[in-house]
Amino acid sequence: MFIQILGSAAGGGFPQWNCNCRNCRGIRAGTLKAQPRTQSSIALSDDGVNWILCNASPDIRTQLENFPALQPARYLRDTAIDAIVLMDSQIDHTTGLLTLREGCPHDVWCTAMVQEDLSTGFPLFRMLEHWNGGLRWNPIALDQAFVVPCCPGLRLTPVPLRSAAPPYSPHRHDPHPGDNIGLLIEDTRTGGTLFYAPGLGQVTPALRETMRRADCLLVDGTLWRDDEMRVCEVGDKLGSEMGHLAQSGPDGMLALLAGMPARRKVLIHINNTNPILDEESPERAELDARGIEVAFDGMSLRL
Ligand code: MLT
Ligand code: MN
Ligand code: ZN
Repeated sequence: MFIQILGSAAGGGFPQWNCNCRNCRGIRAGTLKAQPRTQSSIALSDDGVNWILCNASPDIRTQLENFPALQPARYLRDTAIDAIVLMDSQIDHTTGLLTLREGCPHDVWCTAMVQEDLSTGFPLFRMLEHWNGGLRWNPIALDQAFVVPCCPGLRLTPVPLRSAAPPYSPHRHDPHPGDNIGLLIEDTRTGGTLFYAPGLGQVTPALRETMRRADCLLVDGTLWRDDEMRVCEVGDKLGSEMGHLAQSGPDGMLALLAGMPARRKVLIHINNTNPILDEESPERAELDARGIEVAFDGMSLRL
Protein backbone atom coordinates (compact mmCIF):
# COMPACT_ATOMS: atom_id res chain seq x y z
CA MET A 1 0.00 0.00 0.00
CA PHE A 2 1.21 3.45 -0.92
CA ILE A 3 0.32 6.30 1.43
CA GLN A 4 1.08 9.88 0.48
CA ILE A 5 0.70 12.68 3.01
CA LEU A 6 -0.67 15.56 0.96
CA GLY A 7 -1.45 17.85 3.89
CA SER A 8 -0.46 17.36 7.53
CA ALA A 9 -1.89 20.45 9.28
CA ALA A 10 -5.25 20.92 10.97
CA GLY A 11 -7.83 23.46 9.75
CA GLY A 12 -6.14 26.78 9.04
CA GLY A 13 -2.84 25.20 7.94
CA PHE A 14 0.57 26.29 9.16
CA PRO A 15 1.11 29.19 9.30
CA GLN A 16 -2.55 30.17 9.53
CA TRP A 17 -3.32 33.30 7.51
CA ASN A 18 -4.50 35.46 10.43
CA CYS A 19 -2.44 33.99 13.25
CA ASN A 20 0.49 35.50 15.10
CA CYS A 21 0.98 32.78 17.70
CA ARG A 22 4.57 31.83 18.56
CA ASN A 23 4.72 29.19 15.85
CA CYS A 24 3.06 31.17 13.05
CA ARG A 25 5.11 34.28 13.83
CA GLY A 26 8.30 32.26 14.10
CA ILE A 27 7.95 30.46 10.81
CA ARG A 28 7.14 33.68 8.95
CA ALA A 29 10.14 35.40 10.49
CA GLY A 30 12.40 32.45 9.75
CA THR A 31 13.36 32.16 13.43
CA LEU A 32 11.56 28.84 14.05
CA LYS A 33 12.96 25.56 12.78
CA ALA A 34 9.77 24.18 11.26
CA GLN A 35 8.13 23.31 7.96
CA PRO A 36 4.98 24.95 6.60
CA ARG A 37 2.07 22.54 6.24
CA THR A 38 -1.14 22.47 4.22
CA GLN A 39 -4.49 21.27 5.49
CA SER A 40 -5.21 17.63 6.22
CA SER A 41 -5.44 15.09 3.39
CA ILE A 42 -3.80 11.84 2.34
CA ALA A 43 -3.86 9.69 -0.80
CA LEU A 44 -3.88 5.87 -0.81
CA SER A 45 -3.13 3.38 -3.53
CA ASP A 46 -2.56 -0.35 -3.93
CA ASP A 47 -0.41 0.03 -7.06
CA GLY A 48 0.92 3.61 -7.09
CA VAL A 49 -1.10 4.35 -10.25
CA ASN A 50 -4.75 4.58 -9.18
CA TRP A 51 -5.41 6.58 -6.05
CA ILE A 52 -8.08 7.16 -3.43
CA LEU A 53 -8.12 10.69 -2.05
CA CYS A 54 -8.89 10.60 1.70
CA ASN A 55 -10.43 13.97 2.44
CA ALA A 56 -10.42 16.92 0.04
CA SER A 57 -8.45 19.80 1.52
CA PRO A 58 -8.94 23.49 0.70
CA ASP A 59 -5.25 23.31 -0.30
CA ILE A 60 -5.73 20.52 -2.82
CA ARG A 61 -4.55 22.54 -5.78
CA THR A 62 -1.10 23.04 -4.23
CA GLN A 63 -1.06 19.46 -3.00
CA LEU A 64 -1.65 18.10 -6.51
CA GLU A 65 1.07 20.33 -7.94
CA ASN A 66 3.46 18.88 -5.38
CA PHE A 67 2.63 15.22 -6.07
CA PRO A 68 2.93 14.46 -9.81
CA ALA A 69 1.62 10.88 -9.44
CA LEU A 70 -1.86 12.37 -9.07
CA GLN A 71 -1.60 14.33 -12.32
CA PRO A 72 -0.72 11.88 -15.10
CA ALA A 73 -0.88 13.02 -18.75
CA ARG A 74 -2.54 10.03 -20.44
CA TYR A 75 -5.37 12.17 -21.82
CA LEU A 76 -5.95 15.82 -22.57
CA ARG A 77 -7.71 16.19 -19.21
CA ASP A 78 -6.54 13.64 -16.65
CA THR A 79 -6.26 12.75 -12.97
CA ALA A 80 -5.20 9.70 -11.00
CA ILE A 81 -7.82 10.42 -8.32
CA ASP A 82 -10.38 7.70 -8.95
CA ALA A 83 -12.40 8.04 -5.77
CA ILE A 84 -12.72 10.29 -2.73
CA VAL A 85 -13.33 9.01 0.81
CA LEU A 86 -14.44 11.50 3.46
CA MET A 87 -13.89 11.01 7.19
CA ASP A 88 -16.25 13.80 8.24
CA SER A 89 -17.94 16.92 6.82
CA GLN A 90 -15.50 19.49 8.22
CA ILE A 91 -14.42 22.41 6.04
CA ASP A 92 -10.76 21.36 6.07
CA HIS A 93 -11.70 17.88 4.78
CA THR A 94 -14.31 18.72 2.15
CA THR A 95 -13.83 22.18 0.64
CA GLY A 96 -11.38 20.80 -1.93
CA LEU A 97 -14.34 19.16 -3.66
CA LEU A 98 -15.19 22.62 -5.03
CA THR A 99 -11.72 22.85 -6.53
CA LEU A 100 -12.17 19.45 -8.19
CA ARG A 101 -15.38 20.56 -9.97
CA GLU A 102 -13.83 20.49 -13.45
CA GLY A 103 -13.31 16.75 -13.05
CA CYS A 104 -16.90 15.86 -12.08
CA PRO A 105 -18.49 13.39 -11.77
CA HIS A 106 -16.52 12.06 -8.79
CA ASP A 107 -17.24 8.94 -6.77
CA VAL A 108 -17.46 10.02 -3.13
CA TRP A 109 -17.58 7.53 -0.26
CA CYS A 110 -18.94 8.79 3.06
CA THR A 111 -21.42 7.96 5.82
CA ALA A 112 -25.10 8.97 5.68
CA MET A 113 -24.38 11.60 8.38
CA VAL A 114 -21.67 13.23 6.29
CA GLN A 115 -23.78 13.05 3.15
CA GLU A 116 -26.61 14.79 5.05
CA ASP A 117 -24.33 17.60 6.29
CA LEU A 118 -22.98 18.04 2.76
CA SER A 119 -26.51 18.26 1.37
CA THR A 120 -27.86 20.73 3.98
CA GLY A 121 -25.56 22.81 6.23
CA PHE A 122 -22.73 22.80 3.68
CA PRO A 123 -24.52 21.66 0.52
CA LEU A 124 -21.61 20.57 -1.68
CA PHE A 125 -23.60 17.63 -3.09
CA ARG A 126 -26.38 20.04 -4.19
CA MET A 127 -24.03 22.70 -5.56
CA LEU A 128 -21.87 20.37 -7.57
CA GLU A 129 -24.89 18.82 -9.30
CA HIS A 130 -24.43 21.70 -11.73
CA TRP A 131 -21.05 20.32 -12.84
CA ASN A 132 -21.40 17.29 -15.07
CA GLY A 133 -23.12 14.92 -12.69
CA GLY A 134 -21.41 16.30 -9.59
CA LEU A 135 -20.68 13.88 -6.75
CA ARG A 136 -21.87 10.28 -6.91
CA TRP A 137 -22.54 9.15 -3.35
CA ASN A 138 -21.34 5.70 -2.28
CA PRO A 139 -22.61 5.11 1.28
CA ILE A 140 -20.20 3.88 3.95
CA ALA A 141 -22.11 1.54 6.28
CA LEU A 142 -20.67 1.68 9.78
CA ASP A 143 -20.53 -2.02 10.41
CA GLN A 144 -19.18 -3.02 7.05
CA ALA A 145 -15.78 -3.15 5.39
CA PHE A 146 -15.73 -1.94 1.79
CA VAL A 147 -13.53 -1.97 -1.26
CA VAL A 148 -13.20 1.00 -3.58
CA PRO A 149 -13.07 -0.41 -7.14
CA CYS A 150 -9.98 1.55 -8.24
CA CYS A 151 -7.89 -0.08 -5.47
CA PRO A 152 -9.14 -3.67 -5.26
CA GLY A 153 -6.20 -4.66 -3.05
CA LEU A 154 -7.32 -2.41 -0.19
CA ARG A 155 -9.99 -3.33 2.34
CA LEU A 156 -11.34 -0.35 4.25
CA THR A 157 -13.10 -0.80 7.58
CA PRO A 158 -14.84 2.29 8.98
CA VAL A 159 -14.50 2.87 12.70
CA PRO A 160 -17.06 5.28 14.18
CA LEU A 161 -15.33 7.85 16.37
CA ARG A 162 -16.78 10.09 19.05
CA SER A 163 -16.39 13.62 17.84
CA ALA A 164 -18.61 16.64 17.23
CA ALA A 165 -20.30 17.32 13.89
CA PRO A 166 -19.27 20.71 12.40
CA PRO A 167 -21.00 23.96 13.47
CA TYR A 168 -23.15 23.99 10.29
CA SER A 169 -24.40 20.43 10.72
CA PRO A 170 -28.15 20.12 11.40
CA HIS A 171 -27.21 17.74 14.25
CA ARG A 172 -24.28 19.68 15.65
CA HIS A 173 -25.46 19.25 19.25
CA ASP A 174 -26.84 15.77 18.78
CA PRO A 175 -23.92 13.47 17.94
CA HIS A 176 -24.56 10.41 15.77
CA PRO A 177 -22.33 7.47 14.92
CA GLY A 178 -20.93 8.29 11.51
CA ASP A 179 -20.39 12.02 12.10
CA ASN A 180 -16.72 11.17 12.11
CA ILE A 181 -14.92 7.94 11.27
CA GLY A 182 -11.45 6.46 11.33
CA LEU A 183 -10.38 3.87 8.78
CA LEU A 184 -8.53 0.61 9.18
CA ILE A 185 -7.02 -0.06 5.77
CA GLU A 186 -5.59 -3.48 4.99
CA ASP A 187 -3.60 -4.34 1.90
CA THR A 188 -4.86 -7.85 1.18
CA ARG A 189 -1.75 -8.62 -0.90
CA THR A 190 1.07 -7.35 1.32
CA GLY A 191 -0.77 -7.73 4.63
CA GLY A 192 0.20 -4.14 5.57
CA THR A 193 -2.34 -2.41 7.78
CA LEU A 194 -2.86 1.30 8.39
CA PHE A 195 -5.14 2.98 10.91
CA TYR A 196 -5.97 6.53 9.88
CA ALA A 197 -7.88 8.91 12.15
CA PRO A 198 -7.09 12.64 11.78
CA GLY A 199 -9.91 13.50 14.21
CA LEU A 200 -10.01 11.26 17.27
CA GLY A 201 -11.69 12.58 20.40
CA GLN A 202 -12.27 9.66 22.74
CA VAL A 203 -10.80 6.24 23.23
CA THR A 204 -13.05 3.23 23.66
CA PRO A 205 -12.03 -0.40 24.22
CA ALA A 206 -13.18 -1.23 20.67
CA LEU A 207 -11.03 1.55 19.22
CA ARG A 208 -8.03 0.36 21.22
CA GLU A 209 -8.51 -3.14 19.80
CA THR A 210 -8.68 -1.82 16.23
CA MET A 211 -5.56 0.27 16.75
CA ARG A 212 -3.68 -2.76 18.03
CA ARG A 213 -4.17 -4.41 14.63
CA ALA A 214 -2.32 -1.72 12.68
CA ASP A 215 1.32 -1.79 11.54
CA CYS A 216 1.14 1.96 11.16
CA LEU A 217 -0.94 4.44 13.14
CA LEU A 218 -1.59 7.78 11.47
CA VAL A 219 -3.58 9.61 14.09
CA ASP A 220 -4.83 12.90 15.49
CA GLY A 221 -1.94 15.21 16.34
CA THR A 222 -3.98 18.42 16.58
CA LEU A 223 -3.00 19.67 20.04
CA TRP A 224 -0.26 19.03 22.58
CA ARG A 225 -2.48 20.09 25.46
CA ASP A 226 -6.25 20.19 25.76
CA ASP A 227 -6.32 23.89 26.67
CA GLU A 228 -3.69 24.89 24.08
CA MET A 229 -5.92 27.39 22.26
CA ARG A 230 -6.55 29.18 25.58
CA VAL A 231 -2.92 29.08 26.67
CA CYS A 232 -1.84 30.51 23.30
CA GLU A 233 -4.66 33.07 23.63
CA VAL A 234 -5.98 32.35 20.14
CA GLY A 235 -9.34 30.85 21.12
CA ASP A 236 -11.35 29.45 23.98
CA LYS A 237 -12.26 25.99 22.75
CA LEU A 238 -10.77 22.92 24.37
CA GLY A 239 -9.48 20.09 22.23
CA SER A 240 -11.96 17.78 23.92
CA GLU A 241 -14.81 20.09 22.83
CA MET A 242 -13.58 19.95 19.25
CA GLY A 243 -13.21 16.17 19.22
CA HIS A 244 -9.42 16.07 19.42
CA LEU A 245 -7.52 14.05 22.01
CA ALA A 246 -4.45 16.03 23.14
CA GLN A 247 -1.04 14.38 23.19
CA SER A 248 -0.03 15.15 26.79
CA GLY A 249 -1.56 13.99 30.06
CA PRO A 250 -2.13 10.59 31.63
CA ASP A 251 -4.97 9.77 29.21
CA GLY A 252 -3.52 11.58 26.22
CA MET A 253 -2.45 10.33 22.80
CA LEU A 254 1.14 9.62 23.88
CA ALA A 255 -0.07 7.34 26.65
CA LEU A 256 -2.39 5.59 24.20
CA LEU A 257 0.36 5.11 21.62
CA ALA A 258 2.79 3.80 24.24
CA GLY A 259 0.77 0.61 24.55
CA MET A 260 0.43 -0.02 20.82
CA PRO A 261 2.49 -2.62 18.93
CA ALA A 262 2.51 -0.64 15.64
CA ARG A 263 5.90 -0.33 13.91
CA ARG A 264 5.25 3.27 12.98
CA LYS A 265 3.33 5.84 14.96
CA VAL A 266 2.75 9.09 13.14
CA LEU A 267 0.85 12.21 14.19
CA ILE A 268 -1.12 14.12 11.55
CA HIS A 269 -3.65 17.01 11.45
CA ILE A 270 -1.39 19.24 13.55
CA ASN A 271 -2.69 22.59 14.68
CA ASN A 272 -0.51 25.65 14.15
CA THR A 273 -0.34 26.25 17.92
CA ASN A 274 1.17 22.82 18.64
CA PRO A 275 4.75 23.03 20.01
CA ILE A 276 5.70 19.78 18.20
CA LEU A 277 5.86 21.83 14.99
CA ASP A 278 8.99 23.47 16.42
CA GLU A 279 11.69 20.91 15.63
CA GLU A 280 13.81 22.22 18.49
CA SER A 281 11.10 22.09 21.17
CA PRO A 282 11.23 19.79 24.21
CA GLU A 283 7.85 18.40 23.16
CA ARG A 284 9.32 17.33 19.81
CA ALA A 285 12.28 15.77 21.63
CA GLU A 286 9.82 13.79 23.73
CA LEU A 287 8.17 12.44 20.57
CA ASP A 288 11.59 11.46 19.22
CA ALA A 289 12.41 9.65 22.43
CA ARG A 290 9.13 7.73 22.18
CA GLY A 291 9.64 6.85 18.50
CA ILE A 292 6.66 8.91 17.40
CA GLU A 293 6.91 10.72 14.07
CA VAL A 294 5.31 13.98 12.97
CA ALA A 295 3.77 13.80 9.50
CA PHE A 296 4.90 16.42 6.99
CA ASP A 297 3.61 17.38 3.56
CA GLY A 298 5.23 15.14 0.98
CA MET A 299 5.86 12.24 3.38
CA SER A 300 5.46 8.83 1.75
CA LEU A 301 4.75 5.61 3.63
CA ARG A 302 4.68 2.11 2.22
CA LEU A 303 3.10 -0.89 3.92
C1 MLT B 1 -11.16 20.44 13.26
O1 MLT B 1 -10.77 19.33 12.95
O2 MLT B 1 -11.63 20.68 14.38
C2 MLT B 1 -11.06 21.46 12.18
O3 MLT B 1 -9.73 21.53 11.76
C3 MLT B 1 -11.72 22.72 12.43
C4 MLT B 1 -11.79 23.57 11.19
O4 MLT B 1 -11.28 23.19 10.12
O5 MLT B 1 -12.33 24.66 11.27
MN1 MN C 1 -9.86 19.40 11.03
ZN1 ZN D 1 -0.74 30.15 14.84
